[in-house]
Amino acid sequence: MAKKIIVLAGSPRKDGNTNTVVHWFADAARKAGGHVDVIDTSALNYAATGCTECMGCQRSDKFECVIDDQASPVIARIPDYDVLVLATPVFWFGPSAQLKLTLDRTFALMKFDDRKGPYGPGKPTTLCLIATAGGDLEAGLNQVDATFRTAAVFMKCRYESLLVPLAPPNPTELQGRVDVKTSAAELGRRMATEA
Ligand SMILES: Cc1cc2nc3c(=O)[nH]c(=O)nc-3n(C[C@H](O)[C@H](O)[C@H](O)COP(=O)(O)O)c2cc1C
Repeated sequence: MAKKIIVLAGSPRKDGNTNTVVHWFADAARKAGGHVDVIDTSALNYAATGCTECMGCQRSDKFECVIDDQASPVIARIPDYDVLVLATPVFWFGPSAQLKLTLDRTFALMKFDDRKGPYGPGKPTTLCLIATAGGDLEAGLNQVDATFRTAAVFMKCRYESLLVPLAPPNPTELQGRVDVKTSAAELGRRMATEA
């Protein structure tokens, strides 16, 4: 059965390197029958600068962030999907602040129960990272990959990643990278059909 995929896209550049790869990924996933929703986390209207640690989500029976803004309904919908894709440029050896504004608040999708241990809603079952960087793998990409691989273990998710090192400063130059386009399309097809 075709899979449902949500992409949290974390670049502030609408037509930048990361969104170029996301476009190739999403296009192939849709052609393979997948349902893909792309959320631009840099364009959401936020009422808070990230998770405020209010713990309102932990007092609720629901898997929801209690902050009243445009990120909360996005977070509440994540368990409707089979695949969560985190797409980010490497900024200062980590994921972008724009992605983190939404991502930290997915804390609301976990309950920390003293007796049962941590548990979530059961979906998504796959976590996927798409990351681009100006430097080589050692200039931040491998670190970001390791971070999200660890997160996937915690979330009990399968993990996949597409890392794009040495991305050109001018994003139009990435358009000609057939190797990256092929890898993104192959990942999109697999996520739509196998995840
Ligand atoms: C604020 C900032 C911080 C960056 N930090 C890193 C870094 O730590 N390591 C790296 O390899 N590239 C770094 N880069 C380069 C970007 O990761 C690279 O240009 C990326 O492809 C930009 O993606 P985008 O066009 O989707 O925004 C940085 C760029 C900016 C603007």
